[in-house]
Amino acid sequence: MRRLRDLDPGARVSRPPKAQWRAPGRVNLIGDHTDYCEGFVLPMALDRECVIAVTPGADDRVKARSLQLDGVVDVAADGHDEPRTIEPSWGRFVAGAVQAVTERGARVPALDLEVSSTVPTGSGLSSSSALAVALTLALADAGDLELDRRDAARVALDAEVRATGVPGGLMDQLASLFGEAGHALLIDCRSLDIEAIPIPDDIAVLVADSGLPRTLADSEYAQRRAACEQAAAALGMATLRDATIDQVRNDPRARHVVTENARVLACADALRANDINTIGALMLASHASLRDDFAVSTPELDLLVDLLVDAGAVGARLTGAGFGGCVVGVAPLADTDADAVLARVSARYRTATGLVANAFVGRAGTAAGHTLLR
Ligand code: GLA
Repeated sequence: MRRLRDLDPGARVSRPPKAQWRAPGRVNLIGDHTDYCEGFVLPMALDRECVIAVTPGADDRVKARSLQLDGVVDVAADGHDEPRTIEPSWGRFVAGAVQAVTERGARVPALDLEVSSTVPTGSGLSSSSALAVALTLALADAGDLELDRRDAARVALDAEVRATGVPGGLMDQLASLFGEAGHALLIDCRSLDIEAIPIPDDIAVLVADSGLPRTLADSEYAQRRAACEQAAAALGMATLRDATIDQVRNDPRARHVVTENARVLACADALRANDINTIGALMLASHASLRDDFAVSTPELDLLVDLLVDAGAVGARLTGAGFGGCVVGVAPLADTDADAVLARVSARYRTATGLVANAFVGRAGTAAGHTLLR
């Protein structure tokens, strides 16, 4: 296996006194609550990322500071700290990542980490996965653990589960580790095959944050995943991947997963064909399914979808786990015109709800990796 550093063209260094790692967040164009059912997803990495600067530390401790989050994190470098006891709470990701890499054989030295992120937090844009991926890359490298990118995604997910207890799938970590500028990623979450599909220049990806904190997400996410696992077990299957629509017609949760998988594949075809009207229709159908069958939408997300379509998007949907967070839409617009559309949507959303919808044009960014300071 090659070291991750070897995968980054031009980034080879020997014994750098300082290293810097970066990992992007993501927005999912379509395919939610399918990754943990071994289904299909179509995310893109964002050009917003978490960056970790690494310098040698002292006393067998991994210490971390954040430019955005409060407190100093201080955990044992040998991984013996229980992640969920760590304060400040973002330090649980540090402890989770230290444990996840040491259990796979890394010997993490004393380190000081400086964390900084431009991924909006708590919005369903995978700010936590960006942090977990960047930590995994930094700690595996410092601890001489060789990982390929799929392994790194699994380790980062493990770190996140240790930190939060939320049994997530692999979409966010894979999107962060395989992102390509200007491309969406069709990911088969069973084989982990990934195809990068260009996003045509005349399609603008619109992202709008409902401004709702996702306080219910953790417990309800686990419940939805359990419902999918029960539905698969009742069919004698390990996951819903191979279930047919006839088999799940009367189970709304499972029906969402089966129909969503079909929508992802159709959307990938439409993206290849630059057929924005079909993409938009599939996004609207996805939102309806997430709202009515999977029950993870909120009135605010529904409103944002309607406002985006009113303002000129051909389709929109909630993106990520739901229960708050962001919606994503597509419009046949140049980025500057898309900015004007988003400004109108934010103003109308604020009038209707009193909430501030931070909105931006989503640009597909590059994969997580090593960068050099200076
Ligand atoms: C969260 C999880 C992902 C995925 C989405 C829903 O973002 O981290 O693994 O399950 O929800 O698609």
